[in-house]
Amino acid sequence: MKISIIGAGNIGGTLGGKWATQGHQVVFGVRDPQAGKVQILLESHGTTAHSINKSITEAEVVVFAIPGGAMAETVGRLGDNLNGKILIDATNHVGQQQMHQLPLLRQAAPESAIFRAFSTLGWENFADPVIGGQQVDLFYCGDSGSGQEMVNDLIADIGLRPIYIGGLDQVDIIDSLARLWFVMALQQGRGRHLAFKLQTGLMTQA
Ligand SMILES: NC(=O)c1ccc[n+]([C@@H]2O[C@H](COP(=O)([O-])OP(=O)(O)OC[C@H]3O[C@@H](n4cnc5c(N)ncnc54)[C@H](OP(=O)(O)O)[C@@H]3O)[C@@H](O)[C@H]2O)c1
Repeated sequence: MKISIIGAGNIGGTLGGKWATQGHQVVFGVRDPQAGKVQILLESHGTTAHSINKSITEAEVVVFAIPGGAMAETVGRLGDNLNGKILIDATNHVGQQQMHQLPLLRQAAPESAIFRAFSTLGWENFADPVIGGQQVDLFYCGDSGSGQEMVNDLIADIGLRPIYIGGLDQVDIIDSLARLWFVMALQQGRGRHLAFKLQTGLMTQA
């Protein structure tokens, strides 16, 4: 797939590198494509970088991996060009009651399939999606339809087990998981290589 990742930091760089090794065509959209850290990333991953506007021109999927506070200005500049593409919001507006940017994306791109994914776990879990021999689960939500299958596949391509919990009306559950991760990993100091596992089974009666 042709994927534009807006932001080439911890999240953008990790996802982009994995997708590139899986054969996806990854373009980073960044403020300064010539910056040293961006150039180092490109050399190690075989990806390309452009201005944010140019990066989305050919993209089928656009992933947002910039600070939540930068989203209004960035999305505002992209305007209609986002419409019709699959959009993934991985941003967290930390410290705000609403951590996601879904209304902003919906307004900018009414015909897009929109998803909330890669926002609940630290980037280390995307870089190394196996903990104690078990595959890390990634809970996500978003518009159902063919776009959902593609996002499911993109999550699997990172090495994660995708767990779809429903439409965008479920976003508070996803963001609560992010808050739980902050508490467990950071406040309680359990470490950033930490994830939540869905396990099911048949209960047997005694
Ligand atoms: N770190 C995690 O484990 C994690 C996990 C889940 C979700 N998230 C969320 O994912 C997003 C990215 O996190 P990160 O850890 O990857 O951050 P990061 O390493 O600091 O990278 C941020 C990226 O956003 C760009 N950026 C910063 N300000 C910008 C602006 N005003 N306009 C356009 N681009 C801007 C930076 O480019 P420059 O080099 O030009 O500054 C950089 O490419 C955040 O919303 C974060 O809350 C992070």
